[in-house]
Amino acid sequence: MNLVVGATGTLGGEICSRLAQAGKPVRGLVRTSSNPERVAALEKLGVELATGDLRDPASLDAACRGVTTVYSTATAILSQEEGNTLDRVDREGQANLVESARKAKVRRFVFISFRGTKDFDFPLQAAKRATAERLKESGIPWTVIEASVFMEVWLGPHLGFDPANGKARVFCSGEKKISWVSYHDVAALAIAAAESPEAENRVIEVGGPEALTHHDVIRIFEERAGRKFDVERLPEEALEGMRANAKSPIEETFAGLMLFVGRGDEIDMQPILKRYPVRLTSVREYAERVLAG
Ligand SMILES: NC(=O)c1ccc[n+]([C@@H]2O[C@H](COP(=O)([O-])OP(=O)(O)OC[C@H]3O[C@@H](n4cnc5c(N)ncnc54)[C@H](OP(=O)(O)O)[C@@H]3O)[C@@H](O)[C@H]2O)c1
Repeated sequence: MNLVVGATGTLGGEICSRLAQAGKPVRGLVRTSSNPERVAALEKLGVELATGDLRDPASLDAACRGVTTVYSTATAILSQEEGNTLDRVDREGQANLVESARKAKVRRFVFISFRGTKDFDFPLQAAKRATAERLKESGIPWTVIEASVFMEVWLGPHLGFDPANGKARVFCSGEKKISWVSYHDVAALAIAAAESPEAENRVIEVGGPEALTHHDVIRIFEERAGRKFDVERLPEEALEGMRANAKSPIEETFAGLMLFVGRGDEIDMQPILKRYPVRLTSVREYAERVLAG
């Protein structure tokens, strides 16, 4: 049995879908407060539902029963819910899950993290690193996926990239290269790694097929759309100011993430693709898909 914690989220939902379509047994952790449409979509896929919460260890013990592989994609970064904080979920909650998985003697724990930066720390990054350390010390065979920037999130309207309205936003100079990756491909690689003995006790970095600057990306979209975009730039100093003056761990995390993205993140995927042959989506393909509506 595979357990996906974060099943109602973007990446966790994709992992559930791929596992179910491959005929593999999947259990998804859902919360009483989860979006009912997302829960219904999981049921339609044939995913077994386990109701629980990373803040409730007993619910995790029950969800882990009979599980061989745990995938944890969960995060509170977008949560609007009182008390569902980065500290309670991404730090303490993930630690609870590691403990439940250890007691259930799972054979692999795949933890989804991100690349992060060594230049400075921020709450989400600190929590991710703490979880990865805890997992490595737990005795459970583990795989940590360190993913680069999801194109569907960072090249999407929620973060000011709005091709339908000819608008784009760049962080810092917009001239640093980034290995934009599709979350679909992160899901494929996470499953391939979970099923590979060779990926046991390893960190796997996951990026897209080609590192491109923000300006390269905007040119691709402009060519495809046949129009110039209005580009808003958030300078590095402004982002540093946001980080220094942040009034909450979430604000500090968003400023930290924008700085991380603005300063660039390149990954050479060739060695990883030799081991796990997944076809990676390019920004060009993504642009075509988005502009086609
Ligand atoms: N966006 C990027 O560019 C990027 C890059 C690299 C790595 N990542 C990582 O990829 C992972 C997946 O991202 P995503 O976009 O799929 O996230 P998402 O769509 O925001 O999903 C978050 C999931 O976490 C669950 N969750 C929140 N609080 C919980 C709690 N207390 N107990 C149990 N589950 C809880 C949510 O459940 P409910 O539906 O019940 O709220 C939801 O299923 C994250 O860990 C993120 O850090 C993202």
